[in-house]
Amino acid sequence: LTAGPLAGKRILVTSGPTHEPIDPVRYIANRSSGAQGTALAQALMALGAEVVFVTGPASVAPPAGAQVIKVETAAEMLTAVEGTLPVDAAVFAAAVADWRVASASGQKIKKQAGKLPTLEFAENPDILARVSQMGQGRPPLVVGFAAETNDVIENATAKRARKGCDWIVANDVRPETGIMGGTENKVTIVRADDVLDWPRMSKAEVSAKLAAEIAAALA
Ligand code: C5P
Repeated sequence: LTAGPLAGKRILVTSGPTHEPIDPVRYIANRSSGAQGTALAQALMALGAEVVFVTGPASVAPPAGAQVIKVETAAEMLTAVEGTLPVDAAVFAAAVADWRVASASGQKIKKQAGKLPTLEFAENPDILARVSQMGQGRPPLVVGFAAETNDVIENATAKRARKGCDWIVANDVRPETGIMGGTENKVTIVRADDVLDWPRMSKAEVSAKLAAEIAAALA
């Protein structure tokens, strides 16, 4: 039995990168570690939530105590996410690949002297936008992330509108901050009626404060 302000609440968290296959042995990926999503899942569980954790191939271990669903591709992540609904809140911390290889080869692409392969891309489904814009069954609270280097509030506000989510948590990913892949984060949260601008702190502290905001919103 769990106590806490999020007891009885079921919350989806997506995390990590996705891997998009080129052929059976090669893929396209990104540098997401899964650290922020994992820390957030832990903070939500600490407040009593039941967490369903849909994760791509992350470099940090998934949070103990969550229901973990491991996926590789964006398409698999979408299917897994849809399978977790309904939830009381959904937080999309995954760094989903924007594109996949249009037709991944079923066989290893052979190296041919003097000949270079060409890859054609197809757009991946935007999982956050889909869930935000679903009519019936939309989670009461949908939170997206944004990696920004400049005009943070302006860009996050536009992203919030474009996706249709309730909150955008914007990370400052300017290279000189060392935030990407690091243990600290500096976030600005854009909501319908206000903006929360938090100082730089550990990803664990960001997660605890964000979990408290989620608990307040669901109360
Ligand atoms: O458009 P952009 O990638 O900047 O949006 C980032 C937000 O959207 C993150 O919350 C990310 O998890 C989510 N997203 C998604 N599916 C995609 C692309 C992004 O859920 N295909």
